[in-house]
Amino acid sequence: KINQIRNHVSEKIDNAKDVFEAAELNQKLSGEKIDLSEPVRTQKQGLIHPISKVMQEIEDIFSELGFEFSTGPEIEDDFHNFTALNMPEDHPARQMQDTFYLKDSDLLLRTHTSNTQIRKMLNSEPPLKIAALGRVFRRDSDQTHTPMFHQFEGFMVDENVNMGHLKWILESFLEKFFETKNLELRFRPSFFPFTEPSAEVDINYAIEQGRIKVGSKSKDSKFMEILGCGMIHPNVLTNCNIDAEKFQGFAFGIGVERLAMLKYGITDLRMFFDNDVRFLQNFGFEE
Ligand code: PHE
Repeated sequence: KINQIRNHVSEKIDNAKDVFEAAELNQKLSGEKIDLSEPVRTQKQGLIHPISKVMQEIEDIFSELGFEFSTGPEIEDDFHNFTALNMPEDHPARQMQDTFYLKDSDLLLRTHTSNTQIRKMLNSEPPLKIAALGRVFRRDSDQTHTPMFHQFEGFMVDENVNMGHLKWILESFLEKFFETKNLELRFRPSFFPFTEPSAEVDINYAIEQGRIKVGSKSKDSKFMEILGCGMIHPNVLTNCNIDAEKFQGFAFGIGVERLAMLKYGITDLRMFFDNDVRFLQNFGFEE
C-alpha cells in the first residue's frame, strides 16, 4: 500500500516537472524570436589613420630590405639628441630646431629620430642596418608645421658603405612606396652637423586633374624636397666608440606626414591631428 502511494506521488512530481520544463522552454523560445522584417542595425567599423597606414607600409618595405626596427625614447637628454650628433653646446645648428625643454632638467622632447642612431651605435657593434619610426617635437605651429610630427630614420654602418648604397636604398623605397617607376631623385648638396657630405633629396611631381601625382613626367612637373641624408660624420661614429677609420655609414630622415600627404593627396597638415571623424572617413583605411 505504502509503495503504491509512493509511486503515485513520484509520478505526480515527474509530471509536474515536465510541465514546468516545457513552460520554461517555451518562454525562452518566444523571447528569442527573430523578426526578419526588422531593419538591420549598422555596424560601425574603425578605420586606420593615414599616418599609421604609411608607417605600416614603411615597416613592410624596410623589413624586406633587411632593416631592423628600433625606436629611441621621446623624452631624451641633450647628449643623445644633440651633443653626440656633433652639435656641441653652443653650436648654431641647435637653433635650426626649436626645442621643448623640460623644466629644471637636462631632458627635452626629441627634435628628431636621429637620437636612435646614437642609442643604437652605443649599444651594439657594426654591421648595423636600423630603421626607426616615431614621434618628434618642435616648437613650431602653422599651416605646414605642427608641434608634434612623425619621422622615419634609416641608417647603416659597415666597412664599405657609400653614397651609392644610400641612393639605391632610397630609390628602391620611394619607387615601392609611391608605386611608380617614373621617379626622378635629385640629390642637392646640403648641411647637417651629423652627416658629411649631406644632401637633400627632391622628387618630381605635378598636379594632374587637381591631384598631386608623384613621379609625373609631364612638362609641368616640378621638384619637391622630401628628405635629408648623408654619410654619418666621423665625429658621430667616434662619439659612439666606433672606429671611424674602419667603418662608414649613411643616414637619412624623412617626414612621415609629408609622405602621407604626397601619396594620399591630403593638403593641410593640421587635418592629421584635428581628430575630426569626417577626415578619417575620407582618408582612413580598412586594413
Ligand atoms: N635629423 C634630420 C632632421 O630632422 C634629418 C636627417 C637625418 C638628416 C639623418 C640627415 C641624416 O632634420
